[in-house]
Amino acid sequence: MKNLIAGNWKMNLLPGGVAGYAERFLPQVRDLAGVVDLLVCPNFPALAPAVEAFRNTPVAVGAQNMHQELSGAHTGEVSGTMLHDLGVGWVILGHSERRHIYGETDALILAKLKRAHELGLRPIVCVGELLEERERGETEQVLRRQFAESLAGVGSELLEKTTVAYEPVWAIGTGKTATPETAQEAHRLLRNQLEEKIGTAAKGIRILYGGSVKPENAAELLAQPDINGALVGGASLDPDAFAAIARAGA
Ligand code: 13P
Repeated sequence: MKNLIAGNWKMNLLPGGVAGYAERFLPQVRDLAGVVDLLVCPNFPALAPAVEAFRNTPVAVGAQNMHQELSGAHTGEVSGTMLHDLGVGWVILGHSERRHIYGETDALILAKLKRAHELGLRPIVCVGELLEERERGETEQVLRRQFAESLAGVGSELLEKTTVAYEPVWAIGTGKTATPETAQEAHRLLRNQLEEKIGTAAKGIRILYGGSVKPENAAELLAQPDINGALVGGASLDPDAFAAIARAGA
């Protein structure tokens, strides 16, 4: 299975800067086509320029969130139909910042996941424990709950088409990366849950690691047997650093 190296730009970079980013990034990754899958997830206003800048390149474009309804009176929200219409292929759902800053629940994330699949968008669903939960020894329990309630409800066939991202909240934007062993342990737990649900097909599902991934630590994280890619925040804002991580994934 090829690694997926995905960049989550969060609320950073300007729509006007996308073409310059692409110009700098693309020459460094052109030879990786077919070896590693690449994805950038810009903010909503930067999606259209990103679709344009990465057309006919090895880089796919995804959104960072979407609303679960198709349309309607939801001021300030963006639907999956809008993403699809723009030519966006992927969407991140249930990022910890959505869960913890904006109060998204497992049930809401599941509703978004069902909608994304219905629209043919490829979803990446994030799970991960808080520092307090890890310190209380509750990591497995949290991952089991998030898996059961925000992912498994989609049914086996769609679960097989879903990408999972393990993002321990204590490692996001803190510079504290999970050690490759700690990350592998959590990824194994998630793989086991996938196996319980869909049997051997679980082997084909990508589980990405996210949390302070950098060019310096990417290779050893990606060498773990159950880590199938990375969801990169801060380091993906720099096209040179992101290209170095992409190369580590190849
Ligand atoms: P950082 O790489 O900045 O820690 O962010 C990780 C993340 O949240 C990716 O979705």
